[in-house]
Amino acid sequence: MRKIIMAAAVLAMLTACGGSGDQGSKESTGTEAKPEATKEPAESTDITANPDYKKGLELVAQSDCFTCHKVDEAYTGPTYRQVAEKYASQAPGVIPELAGKIIKGGSGVWGQVPMIPHPAISQDDAEAMVKYILLLKK
Ligand code: HEC
Repeated sequence: MRKIIMAAAVLAMLTACGGSGDQGSKESTGTEAKPEATKEPAESTDITANPDYKKGLELVAQSDCFTCHKVDEAYTGPTYRQVAEKYASQAPGVIPELAGKIIKGGSGVWGQVPMIPHPAISQDDAEAMVKYILLLKK
């Protein structure tokens, strides 16, 4: 996670000092072609290029997670976006804790519906899943 934070900081610096002042009004669109100063746009702006994202998503997709969690759509469990918004600022410390929750299950944080335990998932894989989820923070 520290890498991500650094990447975000670098990006913020690029945005702050790289852009010419008269382009300030275009800042919010984010989808248009990058200005010439950005040398590695894919790495710093596209989370799907992040290896943590790919690995975590793969593991989540292989398990049963998506039967209860969607990225944006409310379902049995909280959306992954909500989980990311709640915990991303507490990374990396919170990662092992949330991984433990995936393995052991739990309830009471988001409501009374319990999160089922996943005893077959290793701590490493569960942490990879959490890293993917936390990357979804906007
Ligand atoms: C049977 C439905 C169900 C499945 C399957 C499920 N979850 Fe959950 N999950 C929940 C519910 C319900 C909660 C909210 C629990 C609570 O309120 O404490 C939750 C909470 C979470 C949280 C947040 C925990 C917290 O303490 O805030 C994470 C992270 C999470 N799930 C990840 C996963 C992953 C990864 C998988 C797949 C391995 C998965 N879930 C599979 C229902 C499910």
